[in-house]
Amino acid sequence: MIRDIDRILIARGAISDKVRDLGEAITKNLEDVGEHEIALVAVMTGSLIFVADLMRHLPMKIQIQLMTASSYIGKSTKSNNDPMLGKLPNVKGMHVLLVDDILDSGRTLTRIRGELEALQPKSIQSCVLLRKKLESAMNVPCEYVGFDIEDEFVVGYGLDYDGYYRNLPDIGVICP
Ligand code: IMP
Ligand code: MG
Repeated sequence: MIRDIDRILIARGAISDKVRDLGEAITKNLEDVGEHEIALVAVMTGSLIFVADLMRHLPMKIQIQLMTASSYIGKSTKSNNDPMLGKLPNVKGMHVLLVDDILDSGRTLTRIRGELEALQPKSIQSCVLLRKKLESAMNVPCEYVGFDIEDEFVVGYGLDYDGYYRNLPDIGVICP
């Protein structure tokens, strides 16, 4: 294990079981939606690995769209007030599944969902792998949540600190 990782919080086996469960729940709910109409919008870069695994549990015809959002400046474990968003995907008339890695302050998902709603999709649902047990995060509408975790800074499985640790297969807590 990398020296900077204090402990593993969620091991790879538990992650993959959860991702399969999320995929099954989403598939069940989207079963009645016609073809050509579903867009999965993945928020980069944190959802990189999550979305790659999740989409392979979604057997329906589905368009994959990537967009970027960044809420950290340099070496920080606190997100800043106003996330910077990249180009928005065209989701007009589509059923949107918005996928991100983690709900922390909730600002990123709230902002993106609002911007996408303005593009007149048929519907929007959100899915995150992790949600911190914070009032701010719990109050954000999110239809699919993998794990509720304590308010700690986590890395691995796509989540980074200063660009590092995304490649770790487990989710861990970095040393204080
Ligand atoms: P929010 O806007 O505060 O909810 O933060 C959301 C974004 O910040 C997520 O998409 C993550 O990319 C990042 N983030 C929040 N908490 C963590 C963490 O514990 N580890 C790594 N990235 C995080
Ligand atoms: Mg992110």
